[in-house]
Amino acid sequence: MTLTNIEPAFQHVNIDLADRSYGISIGSGLLGAEASYVGLPAAASALIVTNQTVAPLYARQLVAALSPRYPVIHTVALPDGEAFKTWDSLNLIFDALLSHGCDRKTVLFALGGGVVGDMTGFAAASYMRGVPFVQVPTTLLAQVDSSVGGKTAINHPLGKNMIGAFYQPQRVICDLDTLKTLPVRELSAGLAEVIKYGPIADMPFLDWIEAHIDALIARDVSTLAHAVKRSCEIKAWVVGQDERESGLRAILNFGHTFGHAIEAGLGYGEWLHGEAVGCGMVMAARLSQALGLVDEAFVERLTGLICRAGLPVVAPVLDAQDNVARYLALMRVDKKSEAGEIKFVLIDGPGKAVVRGAPDAVVAQVIEASCRGG
Ligand code: NAD
Ligand code: GLY
Repeated sequence: MTLTNIEPAFQHVNIDLADRSYGISIGSGLLGAEASYVGLPAAASALIVTNQTVAPLYARQLVAALSPRYPVIHTVALPDGEAFKTWDSLNLIFDALLSHGCDRKTVLFALGGGVVGDMTGFAAASYMRGVPFVQVPTTLLAQVDSSVGGKTAINHPLGKNMIGAFYQPQRVICDLDTLKTLPVRELSAGLAEVIKYGPIADMPFLDWIEAHIDALIARDVSTLAHAVKRSCEIKAWVVGQDERESGLRAILNFGHTFGHAIEAGLGYGEWLHGEAVGCGMVMAARLSQALGLVDEAFVERLTGLICRAGLPVVAPVLDAQDNVARYLALMRVDKKSEAGEIKFVLIDGPGKAVVRGAPDAVVAQVIEASCRGG
C-alpha cells in the first residue's frame, strides 16, 4: 500500500441516524490516502489509538495521510489482545490525551481491530464528556461489524463488554488492503460475523457466502469488498431502526449469548471472539431446532458453512464438574438477560430472527450435545 493524494475508488454505505449519521468507505488504498479524511472535524491535534501489533504495520501511513489536516498527531499503542480490553488499557488512552494536552476538539482515530475500536470509542465518549472519533478498522470482523453502529466498551472480569457507551464515530474507513496481513485465524473469526447476517436477515446473502467462501478465505479483494459492503448495509439497516438496542438490534447478537459465555468461561483471548460467535451460532441454531423453529437441514447447512470458514463447531467444556451450570451462570450475565432470564437470539425460520427465552432443560440438552459435537 502506498501513500497517495489521488482519490482511490471506493464503495459507500451510509448510516442514517439524523445528526449522528456518517459514512462507511470500503475499498483498497484508503488508509494512506489523504482524500479519505477530507471533511472530518478540524482540530489542533489528533490521537491515533492502535496496538503494538498494528502500529508497525499501518501507523506511519495513517500519520502521513492525516498530517495535512492535523498540525500535531500523537500515537498510543496499547498492548494487543482481548485480555487487555480493560480499565488499565483505557487509562493509557486517557493518559496520552491528558499528557499531550489534548482538548475537546482533538479527534481520535481507532486503528486496529474490534478491541482497539471498542476501547477508542469508549475513550472518545468519555474524554471531556465526548470528543470526535473515526474508525479505521483493520480486521475483517471490525470492518463488517464492530466499527459500525457505535457500541463501545471494555470487558469486566465478570462479563464481556459490560462497561461502555453508545457513541457513534464520525466516519468508518475500511481499507481492504489491510486484510492482507491478517492472520488466517483472525480472517476466519471475521467470517463468523459475515455469516451471521445471512440467517438473521438475508438468506440470498447466505447463498452468496456459501458460493464464495473459498474466494473469501483466499482474500480475493472484490469478493471481500462485497462481503464487507453487504454486511455493513444490513448492519446499517438494523442500527438505523434501533440505535440503542431497544428491540431489533439484538438480532445482531445471534450466536453471542453462547459465544460470550465461551469467551468469559475460557478466559478472554483463549478463543477469539469470532470463533466463540461461530460456535455460538451452531448452538443457537440447535436451540432453534429444539424449539421447533427450524429444521435439522438448516442447522446442518449453517454448521457446514461455519466449519468451512475454519471456525470451531464443537463447544468447549467450561467446567468439568458442572458444565451446564457454568454455561447457564455465565449466560445470565448477558446484557439481554431480564430479571435473571436468559434471552437468546434464535432463528425463526431461515432469514428471520427472534429474541426469546428457552426452558433451562432444553438449553442444557443443547449445551451437552454441542460439547459432545453432536
Ligand atoms: P482484535 O481487535 O483483537 O484483532 C485481532 C488481532 O488481529 C489482534 O491481534 C490485532 O492486533 C491483529 N490485527 C488487527 N489488524 C491487523 C492487520 N491488518 N494485520 C495483522 N494483524 C492485525 O479482534 P477483532 O476480532 O477485530 O475484534 C474483536 C472485538 O470486537 C471483541 O472485543 C468484540 O467484543 C468486539 N466487537 C464489538 C462489536 C461492536 O459492535 N462494537 C461487534 C463485534 C465485536
Ligand atoms: N455487534 C452487535 C451490535 O452491534 O449490536
